[in-house]
Amino acid sequence: MSLLGKFFETNIKEPYILVCSSKSQMLFSKELLDKENIDNELIPTPKGFGEVCTTAIKFDKKHKNKVKRITNENDIEVLSIASLENKYKYNLSEIYDMNISKDFKDIINKIEANTDLNKEEVKYLLSIEDEDEYNVLIRTADIIRKECVGDRIELRAAIEFSNYCIKNCNYCGVRKDNSTNRYRMNKKEILNVVDNLYKIGIKTVILQSGEDPYYTTDKILSIVKEIKDKYKMGITLSIGERTQEEYKIFSEAGVNNYLLKIETASRRLFNKIHPDDDFDDRIKHHKFIRDSGIRLGSGGMIGLPTQTIDEIADDILFQRDYGVHMIGFGPFLPAKGTPYENESKGDLKLTLKVVAITRIVCQHVFLPATTAIASLHPDGQTLALMAGANTIMLISTPSHLRESYQIYSQKNMVDLSFTIKSTKDSKRKLPKYLNYSYLKSIGYDIDDELIK
Ligand code: 5AD
Ligand code: SF4
Repeated sequence: MSLLGKFFETNIKEPYILVCSSKSQMLFSKELLDKENIDNELIPTPKGFGEVCTTAIKFDKKHKNKVKRITNENDIEVLSIASLENKYKYNLSEIYDMNISKDFKDIINKIEANTDLNKEEVKYLLSIEDEDEYNVLIRTADIIRKECVGDRIELRAAIEFSNYCIKNCNYCGVRKDNSTNRYRMNKKEILNVVDNLYKIGIKTVILQSGEDPYYTTDKILSIVKEIKDKYKMGITLSIGERTQEEYKIFSEAGVNNYLLKIETASRRLFNKIHPDDDFDDRIKHHKFIRDSGIRLGSGGMIGLPTQTIDEIADDILFQRDYGVHMIGFGPFLPAKGTPYENESKGDLKLTLKVVAITRIVCQHVFLPATTAIASLHPDGQTLALMAGANTIMLISTPSHLRESYQIYSQKNMVDLSFTIKSTKDSKRKLPKYLNYSYLKSIGYDIDDELIK
Protein backbone atom coordinates (compact mmCIF):
# COMPACT_ATOMS: atom_id res chain seq x y z
CA MET A 1 0.00 0.00 0.00
CA SER A 2 1.29 3.43 -0.78
CA LEU A 3 1.82 5.68 2.20
CA LEU A 4 -1.02 7.83 0.93
CA GLY A 5 -3.49 5.25 2.19
CA LYS A 6 -2.15 5.85 5.68
CA PHE A 7 -3.22 9.48 5.57
CA PHE A 8 -6.29 9.59 3.36
CA GLU A 9 -8.26 7.30 1.07
CA THR A 10 -7.37 7.18 -2.58
CA ASN A 11 -9.17 5.34 -5.35
CA ILE A 12 -6.73 6.17 -8.07
CA LYS A 13 -5.39 2.83 -9.27
CA GLU A 14 -4.27 3.67 -12.81
CA PRO A 15 -3.20 7.31 -12.62
CA TYR A 16 -3.87 9.80 -15.39
CA ILE A 17 -3.18 13.49 -15.22
CA LEU A 18 -4.86 16.59 -16.54
CA VAL A 19 -2.61 19.60 -17.14
CA CYS A 20 -4.28 22.98 -17.74
CA SER A 21 -2.89 26.25 -19.07
CA SER A 22 -3.17 28.22 -15.82
CA LYS A 23 -3.87 27.95 -12.10
CA SER A 24 -7.41 29.32 -12.53
CA GLN A 25 -8.18 26.82 -15.29
CA MET A 26 -6.77 24.04 -13.12
CA LEU A 27 -8.86 25.07 -10.11
CA PHE A 28 -11.99 25.40 -12.26
CA SER A 29 -11.39 21.89 -13.67
CA LYS A 30 -10.95 20.50 -10.18
CA GLU A 31 -14.25 22.05 -9.16
CA LEU A 32 -15.97 20.42 -12.16
CA LEU A 33 -14.43 17.02 -11.41
CA ASP A 34 -15.43 17.29 -7.74
CA LYS A 35 -19.00 18.11 -8.79
CA GLU A 36 -19.13 14.95 -10.90
CA ASN A 37 -17.68 12.90 -8.00
CA ILE A 38 -14.52 12.04 -9.89
CA ASP A 39 -11.79 11.27 -7.33
CA ASN A 40 -8.84 13.53 -7.96
CA GLU A 41 -5.72 14.94 -6.30
CA LEU A 42 -3.55 17.95 -7.02
CA ILE A 43 0.10 17.06 -7.59
CA PRO A 44 3.19 18.90 -8.85
CA THR A 45 3.19 18.47 -12.64
CA PRO A 46 5.62 15.59 -13.25
CA LYS A 47 8.73 16.04 -15.42
CA GLY A 48 7.82 15.79 -19.09
CA PHE A 49 4.22 16.91 -18.67
CA GLY A 50 4.67 20.65 -18.04
CA GLU A 51 6.59 23.38 -16.24
CA VAL A 52 8.25 22.81 -12.87
CA CYS A 53 6.23 24.05 -9.91
CA THR A 54 2.91 24.01 -11.70
CA THR A 55 0.06 21.81 -10.54
CA ALA A 56 -1.65 18.95 -12.36
CA ILE A 57 -4.81 17.01 -11.50
CA LYS A 58 -4.42 13.28 -10.97
CA PHE A 59 -7.42 11.01 -11.61
CA ASP A 60 -8.11 7.38 -12.53
CA LYS A 61 -7.97 6.08 -16.09
CA LYS A 62 -11.56 4.91 -15.91
CA HIS A 63 -12.70 8.57 -15.91
CA LYS A 64 -10.62 9.55 -18.92
CA ASN A 65 -13.50 10.03 -21.36
CA LYS A 66 -15.61 11.83 -18.79
CA VAL A 67 -12.76 14.25 -18.01
CA LYS A 68 -12.28 14.87 -21.74
CA ARG A 69 -15.99 15.60 -22.12
CA ILE A 70 -16.15 17.89 -19.08
CA THR A 71 -13.11 19.94 -20.08
CA ASN A 72 -14.43 20.18 -23.63
CA GLU A 73 -17.91 21.29 -22.65
CA ASN A 74 -16.49 23.96 -20.35
CA ASP A 75 -13.88 25.32 -22.77
CA ILE A 76 -11.00 24.46 -20.44
CA GLU A 77 -7.59 25.13 -21.99
CA VAL A 78 -6.11 21.65 -21.66
CA LEU A 79 -2.39 21.20 -22.21
CA SER A 80 -2.54 17.44 -21.85
CA ILE A 81 -4.48 14.48 -20.57
CA ALA A 82 -2.00 11.64 -20.25
CA SER A 83 -1.26 8.38 -18.53
CA LEU A 84 1.31 8.53 -15.76
CA GLU A 85 2.59 5.21 -17.03
CA ASN A 86 4.42 7.16 -19.71
CA LYS A 87 6.52 9.00 -17.18
CA TYR A 88 9.80 10.59 -18.17
CA LYS A 89 12.74 8.14 -18.16
CA TYR A 90 16.17 9.04 -16.81
CA ASN A 91 19.52 8.02 -18.22
CA LEU A 92 21.68 6.58 -15.44
CA SER A 93 24.00 4.56 -17.67
CA GLU A 94 27.06 6.19 -16.11
CA ILE A 95 26.15 4.44 -12.86
CA TYR A 96 26.15 0.90 -14.33
CA ASP A 97 29.86 0.28 -13.94
CA MET A 98 30.14 1.69 -10.48
CA ASN A 99 30.93 -0.43 -7.50
CA ILE A 100 27.55 -1.04 -5.86
CA SER A 101 25.60 -3.99 -4.49
CA LYS A 102 23.05 -6.01 -6.46
CA ASP A 103 20.22 -4.61 -4.33
CA PHE A 104 21.33 -1.06 -5.01
CA LYS A 105 21.60 -1.81 -8.75
CA ASP A 106 18.01 -3.02 -8.73
CA ILE A 107 16.95 0.24 -7.13
CA ILE A 108 18.94 2.23 -9.71
CA ASN A 109 17.11 0.33 -12.47
CA LYS A 110 13.78 1.29 -10.93
CA ILE A 111 14.83 4.93 -10.67
CA GLU A 112 15.93 4.90 -14.29
CA ALA A 113 12.57 3.47 -15.38
CA ASN A 114 10.86 6.03 -13.13
CA THR A 115 8.97 3.44 -11.13
CA ASP A 116 7.93 4.64 -7.66
CA LEU A 117 10.25 3.40 -4.91
CA ASN A 118 8.67 1.62 -1.95
CA LYS A 119 9.46 2.16 1.70
CA GLU A 120 11.94 -0.73 1.93
CA GLU A 121 13.93 0.71 -0.96
CA VAL A 122 13.93 4.18 0.59
CA LYS A 123 15.17 2.62 3.84
CA TYR A 124 17.92 0.83 1.95
CA LEU A 125 19.11 4.15 0.52
CA LEU A 126 18.90 5.86 3.90
CA SER A 127 21.05 3.13 5.44
CA ILE A 128 23.90 3.39 2.92
CA GLU A 129 27.25 3.59 4.73
CA ASP A 130 29.70 2.46 2.05
CA GLU A 131 31.53 5.45 0.54
CA ASP A 132 31.12 4.30 -3.08
CA GLU A 133 27.41 3.70 -2.64
CA TYR A 134 27.00 7.06 -0.92
CA ASN A 135 28.67 8.78 -3.89
CA VAL A 136 26.41 6.94 -6.32
CA LEU A 137 23.33 8.04 -4.39
CA ILE A 138 24.44 11.68 -4.46
CA ARG A 139 25.37 11.49 -8.16
CA THR A 140 22.00 9.95 -9.05
CA ALA A 141 20.17 12.76 -7.28
CA ASP A 142 22.37 15.30 -9.04
CA ILE A 143 21.53 13.85 -12.48
CA ILE A 144 17.81 13.99 -11.73
CA ARG A 145 18.11 17.52 -10.32
CA LYS A 146 19.79 18.68 -13.52
CA GLU A 147 17.12 17.09 -15.72
CA CYS A 148 14.26 18.50 -13.66
CA VAL A 149 15.32 21.98 -12.62
CA GLY A 150 18.58 22.69 -14.47
CA ASP A 151 21.75 24.30 -13.17
CA ARG A 152 20.43 27.66 -12.06
CA ILE A 153 19.87 28.25 -8.38
CA GLU A 154 16.43 29.56 -7.46
CA LEU A 155 16.72 32.40 -4.95
CA ARG A 156 14.02 33.34 -2.46
CA ALA A 157 14.29 36.07 0.14
CA ALA A 158 12.86 35.56 3.62
CA ILE A 159 11.69 38.39 5.83
CA GLU A 160 11.15 37.12 9.37
CA PHE A 161 8.68 39.86 10.23
CA SER A 162 7.58 38.73 13.72
CA ASN A 163 9.05 36.38 16.29
CA TYR A 164 5.96 36.37 18.51
CA CYS A 165 4.45 32.91 18.76
CA ILE A 166 1.50 31.47 20.66
CA LYS A 167 2.91 27.94 20.48
CA ASN A 168 5.49 25.98 22.39
CA CYS A 169 7.03 23.53 19.92
CA ASN A 170 9.66 21.74 21.99
CA TYR A 171 12.47 22.27 19.49
CA CYS A 172 11.99 25.92 18.62
CA GLY A 173 13.96 28.88 19.98
CA VAL A 174 11.12 31.36 19.49
CA ARG A 175 8.54 29.20 21.31
CA LYS A 176 6.20 31.17 23.52
CA ASP A 177 7.91 30.33 26.83
CA ASN A 178 11.45 31.08 25.67
CA SER A 179 12.79 34.42 26.72
CA THR A 180 13.98 36.38 23.72
CA ASN A 181 13.53 39.96 22.50
CA ARG A 182 10.19 39.95 20.76
CA TYR A 183 9.59 42.18 17.73
CA ARG A 184 6.99 42.84 15.09
CA MET A 185 7.63 44.68 11.86
CA ASN A 186 4.92 46.96 10.54
CA LYS A 187 3.81 47.13 6.93
CA LYS A 188 6.05 50.07 6.14
CA GLU A 189 9.13 48.30 7.51
CA ILE A 190 8.30 45.14 5.57
CA LEU A 191 7.70 47.07 2.34
CA ASN A 192 10.98 48.85 2.84
CA VAL A 193 12.82 45.52 2.77
CA VAL A 194 10.77 44.34 -0.21
CA ASP A 195 11.74 47.50 -2.08
CA ASN A 196 15.42 46.66 -1.62
CA LEU A 197 14.86 43.06 -2.70
CA TYR A 198 13.06 44.29 -5.80
CA LYS A 199 16.04 46.50 -6.64
CA ILE A 200 18.41 43.53 -6.59
CA GLY A 201 16.01 41.56 -8.76
CA ILE A 202 14.56 39.02 -6.32
CA LYS A 203 11.36 37.48 -7.72
CA THR A 204 9.84 35.77 -4.69
CA VAL A 205 9.62 36.98 -1.13
CA ILE A 206 8.88 34.73 1.85
CA LEU A 207 6.97 36.37 4.69
CA GLN A 208 7.78 34.31 7.76
CA SER A 209 6.75 34.63 11.40
CA GLY A 210 5.81 32.68 14.48
CA GLU A 211 2.11 31.91 14.88
CA ASP A 212 1.15 35.47 15.66
CA PRO A 213 -2.59 36.29 15.63
CA TYR A 214 -1.69 39.99 15.84
CA TYR A 215 -1.39 39.73 12.06
CA THR A 216 -5.04 39.26 11.21
CA THR A 217 -6.17 38.10 7.78
CA ASP A 218 -6.76 41.73 6.85
CA LYS A 219 -3.30 42.83 7.98
CA ILE A 220 -1.64 40.04 5.99
CA LEU A 221 -3.84 40.77 2.97
CA SER A 222 -2.98 44.42 3.01
CA ILE A 223 0.76 43.59 2.95
CA VAL A 224 0.27 40.96 0.24
CA LYS A 225 -1.80 43.29 -1.93
CA GLU A 226 0.72 46.10 -1.74
CA ILE A 227 3.61 43.80 -2.68
CA LYS A 228 1.57 42.42 -5.58
CA ASP A 229 0.41 45.83 -6.81
CA LYS A 230 3.74 47.61 -6.54
CA TYR A 231 6.25 44.88 -7.34
CA LYS A 232 4.36 41.96 -8.93
CA MET A 233 6.56 39.60 -6.92
CA GLY A 234 5.79 36.01 -6.01
CA ILE A 235 4.78 35.63 -2.36
CA THR A 236 5.30 32.74 0.01
CA LEU A 237 3.56 32.88 3.38
CA SER A 238 5.09 31.00 6.30
CA ILE A 239 2.92 32.10 9.21
CA GLY A 240 1.73 28.82 10.72
CA GLU A 241 -1.66 27.17 10.75
CA ARG A 242 -4.57 29.37 9.63
CA THR A 243 -8.14 28.40 8.69
CA GLN A 244 -9.26 26.75 5.45
CA GLU A 245 -11.15 29.94 4.64
CA GLU A 246 -8.01 32.06 5.09
CA TYR A 247 -5.97 29.85 2.75
CA LYS A 248 -8.66 30.39 0.10
CA ILE A 249 -8.61 34.15 0.65
CA PHE A 250 -4.81 34.19 0.42
CA SER A 251 -4.96 32.16 -2.78
CA GLU A 252 -7.44 34.60 -4.33
CA ALA A 253 -5.21 37.50 -3.30
CA GLY A 254 -2.41 35.95 -5.35
CA VAL A 255 -0.31 34.25 -2.67
CA ASN A 256 1.76 31.74 -4.63
CA ASN A 257 3.20 29.45 -1.98
CA TYR A 258 2.46 28.53 1.61
CA LEU A 259 5.11 26.94 3.75
CA LEU A 260 3.79 24.75 6.55
CA LYS A 261 6.10 21.89 7.35
CA ILE A 262 4.90 18.52 8.52
CA GLU A 263 8.24 18.42 10.44
CA THR A 264 7.79 14.65 10.84
CA ALA A 265 5.26 12.30 9.23
CA SER A 266 5.32 10.10 12.33
CA ARG A 267 2.22 10.64 14.43
CA ARG A 268 4.10 9.50 17.53
CA LEU A 269 6.96 11.94 17.07
CA PHE A 270 4.82 14.81 15.77
CA ASN A 271 2.65 14.74 18.86
CA LYS A 272 5.70 14.41 21.12
CA ILE A 273 7.42 17.52 19.77
CA HIS A 274 4.29 19.65 19.32
CA PRO A 275 2.42 20.13 22.61
CA ASP A 276 -0.03 22.53 20.92
CA ASP A 277 -0.59 20.79 17.58
CA ASP A 278 -2.41 17.73 16.41
CA PHE A 279 -0.99 15.46 13.72
CA ASP A 280 -4.32 14.92 11.95
CA ASP A 281 -4.95 18.66 11.89
CA ARG A 282 -1.55 19.30 10.34
CA ILE A 283 -2.38 16.75 7.63
CA LYS A 284 -5.72 18.50 7.04
CA HIS A 285 -3.95 21.84 6.72
CA HIS A 286 -1.69 20.35 4.06
CA LYS A 287 -4.80 19.38 2.14
CA PHE A 288 -6.50 22.75 2.68
CA ILE A 289 -3.48 24.63 1.36
CA ARG A 290 -3.01 22.35 -1.63
CA ASP A 291 -6.69 22.43 -2.55
CA SER A 292 -6.82 26.23 -2.32
CA GLY A 293 -4.50 26.26 -5.34
CA ILE A 294 -1.55 27.66 -3.42
CA ARG A 295 1.62 25.64 -3.94
CA LEU A 296 2.44 23.73 -0.81
CA GLY A 297 5.80 23.84 0.92
CA SER A 298 6.56 21.18 3.51
CA GLY A 299 9.53 19.14 4.72
CA GLY A 300 10.92 18.50 8.13
CA MET A 301 13.77 17.97 10.53
CA ILE A 302 16.24 15.11 10.49
CA GLY A 303 17.75 13.81 13.71
CA LEU A 304 14.96 14.80 16.07
CA PRO A 305 15.29 13.13 19.48
CA THR A 306 14.17 9.45 19.21
CA GLN A 307 13.49 9.69 15.43
CA THR A 308 14.12 6.41 13.56
CA ILE A 309 15.19 5.59 9.98
CA ASP A 310 11.78 4.02 9.48
CA GLU A 311 10.14 7.33 10.35
CA ILE A 312 12.49 9.28 8.08
CA ALA A 313 11.54 6.99 5.17
CA ASP A 314 7.90 7.91 5.86
CA ASP A 315 8.87 11.61 5.93
CA ILE A 316 10.23 11.38 2.38
CA LEU A 317 7.34 9.31 1.00
CA PHE A 318 4.87 11.67 2.62
CA GLN A 319 6.17 14.53 0.45
CA ARG A 320 5.61 12.50 -2.71
CA ASP A 321 2.25 11.11 -1.71
CA TYR A 322 1.02 14.49 -0.56
CA GLY A 323 1.95 16.33 -3.75
CA VAL A 324 4.30 18.80 -2.06
CA HIS A 325 5.91 21.37 -4.39
CA MET A 326 8.74 22.65 -2.15
CA ILE A 327 10.42 20.32 0.28
CA GLY A 328 12.81 21.64 2.90
CA PHE A 329 14.67 19.05 4.93
CA GLY A 330 17.26 20.22 7.41
CA PRO A 331 19.01 18.80 10.46
CA PHE A 332 17.49 19.24 13.90
CA LEU A 333 19.61 21.77 15.79
CA PRO A 334 19.23 22.21 19.54
CA ALA A 335 18.07 25.69 20.54
CA LYS A 336 19.03 27.39 23.80
CA GLY A 337 16.34 27.62 26.44
CA THR A 338 14.13 24.91 24.88
CA PRO A 339 13.31 21.46 26.31
CA TYR A 340 15.62 20.00 23.65
CA GLU A 341 18.54 22.30 24.38
CA ASN A 342 20.81 19.42 25.43
CA GLU A 343 19.85 16.94 22.69
CA SER A 344 22.30 16.02 19.93
CA LYS A 345 22.13 17.78 16.59
CA GLY A 346 21.17 16.02 13.36
CA ASP A 347 23.84 14.29 11.30
CA LEU A 348 25.18 16.00 8.14
CA LYS A 349 25.54 12.86 6.04
CA LEU A 350 22.10 11.54 6.95
CA THR A 351 20.53 14.91 6.08
CA LEU A 352 22.33 14.93 2.72
CA LYS A 353 21.06 11.41 2.03
CA VAL A 354 17.54 12.63 2.79
CA VAL A 355 17.92 15.55 0.36
CA ALA A 356 19.23 13.18 -2.34
CA ILE A 357 16.50 10.58 -1.84
CA THR A 358 13.83 13.31 -1.81
CA ARG A 359 15.07 14.52 -5.20
CA ILE A 360 15.02 10.95 -6.52
CA VAL A 361 11.53 10.24 -5.16
CA CYS A 362 9.82 13.63 -5.78
CA GLN A 363 11.83 14.80 -8.82
CA HIS A 364 10.09 17.79 -10.45
CA VAL A 365 9.96 20.01 -7.38
CA PHE A 366 11.97 22.69 -5.58
CA LEU A 367 14.32 21.55 -2.83
CA PRO A 368 16.00 24.19 -0.69
CA ALA A 369 19.48 23.82 0.67
CA THR A 370 18.08 24.84 4.06
CA THR A 371 19.42 27.47 6.43
CA ALA A 372 19.64 24.69 9.04
CA ILE A 373 22.05 22.62 6.93
CA ALA A 374 24.11 25.78 6.27
CA SER A 375 24.19 26.29 10.04
CA LEU A 376 25.22 22.72 10.81
CA HIS A 377 28.37 22.78 8.65
CA PRO A 378 30.22 25.56 6.77
CA ASP A 379 29.94 23.56 3.52
CA GLY A 380 26.41 22.32 4.24
CA GLN A 381 24.75 24.53 1.66
CA THR A 382 27.20 23.58 -1.10
CA LEU A 383 26.92 19.88 -0.25
CA ALA A 384 23.10 20.06 -0.28
CA LEU A 385 23.20 21.76 -3.71
CA MET A 386 25.38 18.88 -4.90
CA ALA A 387 22.94 16.34 -3.46
CA GLY A 388 19.83 17.45 -5.34
CA ALA A 389 18.87 20.82 -3.83
CA ASN A 390 18.24 23.82 -6.11
CA THR A 391 16.86 26.63 -3.97
CA ILE A 392 18.38 29.04 -1.45
CA MET A 393 16.57 31.23 1.02
CA LEU A 394 18.35 34.52 1.64
CA ILE A 395 17.79 35.79 5.14
CA SER A 396 16.58 39.31 4.48
CA THR A 397 15.38 40.33 7.92
CA PRO A 398 16.76 43.76 8.91
CA SER A 399 20.12 43.14 10.56
CA HIS A 400 19.21 44.60 13.96
CA LEU A 401 16.37 42.03 14.30
CA ARG A 402 18.13 38.92 12.99
CA GLU A 403 19.68 37.92 16.28
CA SER A 404 16.20 37.75 17.80
CA TYR A 405 14.94 35.21 15.25
CA GLN A 406 17.02 32.33 16.54
CA ILE A 407 14.77 29.33 15.95
CA TYR A 408 17.94 27.38 16.72
CA SER A 409 21.30 28.43 18.10
CA GLN A 410 24.18 29.55 15.86
CA LYS A 411 21.92 30.12 12.88
CA ASN A 412 23.82 30.89 9.68
CA MET A 413 22.69 34.27 8.32
CA VAL A 414 22.68 33.08 4.72
CA ASP A 415 23.25 36.21 2.64
CA LEU A 416 24.02 36.93 -0.99
CA SER A 417 27.81 36.66 -0.61
CA PHE A 418 27.45 33.26 1.05
CA THR A 419 25.06 32.17 -1.71
CA ILE A 420 27.41 33.31 -4.46
CA LYS A 421 30.19 31.26 -2.87
CA SER A 422 28.03 28.11 -2.57
CA THR A 423 26.86 28.50 -6.17
CA LYS A 424 30.45 28.67 -7.33
CA ASP A 425 31.62 25.81 -5.11
CA SER A 426 28.85 23.54 -6.35
CA LYS A 427 29.59 24.51 -9.98
CA ARG A 428 26.14 25.93 -10.54
CA LYS A 429 24.75 29.13 -12.02
CA LEU A 430 23.08 32.15 -10.46
CA PRO A 431 19.56 33.00 -11.66
CA LYS A 432 19.19 35.21 -14.75
CA TYR A 433 16.76 37.56 -13.06
CA LEU A 434 19.07 39.29 -10.54
CA ASN A 435 20.07 42.85 -11.30
CA TYR A 436 23.79 42.23 -11.73
CA SER A 437 24.86 45.70 -12.82
CA TYR A 438 23.30 47.12 -9.67
CA LEU A 439 24.80 44.38 -7.49
CA LYS A 440 28.27 45.00 -8.91
CA SER A 441 27.85 48.75 -8.40
CA ILE A 442 27.23 48.19 -4.69
CA GLY A 443 30.34 46.06 -4.33
CA TYR A 444 29.42 42.41 -5.01
CA ASP A 445 32.17 40.46 -6.68
CA ILE A 446 30.34 38.29 -9.21
CA ASP A 447 32.19 36.18 -11.72
CA ASP A 448 30.49 36.44 -15.18
CA GLU A 449 30.88 32.67 -15.57
CA LEU A 450 28.29 32.24 -12.78
CA ILE A 451 25.65 34.14 -14.73
CA LYS A 452 26.20 32.69 -18.24
N1 5AD B 1 16.31 22.76 14.48
C1 5AD B 1 16.15 22.70 13.13
N2 5AD B 1 15.16 23.28 12.46
C2 5AD B 1 14.28 23.98 13.19
N3 5AD B 1 13.22 24.65 12.82
C3 5AD B 1 12.66 25.19 13.91
N4 5AD B 1 13.36 24.88 15.00
C4 5AD B 1 14.38 24.11 14.58
C5 5AD B 1 15.45 23.46 15.22
N5 5AD B 1 15.61 23.53 16.54
C6 5AD B 1 12.78 24.67 11.43
C7 5AD B 1 11.45 23.97 11.33
C8 5AD B 1 10.52 25.10 11.07
C9 5AD B 1 11.39 26.10 10.36
C10 5AD B 1 10.91 27.51 10.45
O1 5AD B 1 12.63 25.98 11.00
O2 5AD B 1 11.45 23.06 10.25
O3 5AD B 1 9.43 24.74 10.27
FE1 SF4 C 1 6.06 28.86 16.88
FE2 SF4 C 1 6.73 27.80 14.51
FE3 SF4 C 1 8.47 27.88 16.54
FE4 SF4 C 1 6.38 26.23 16.66
S1 SF4 C 1 8.07 26.11 15.14
S2 SF4 C 1 7.11 27.55 18.33
S3 SF4 C 1 4.80 27.43 15.66
S4 SF4 C 1 7.64 29.63 15.46
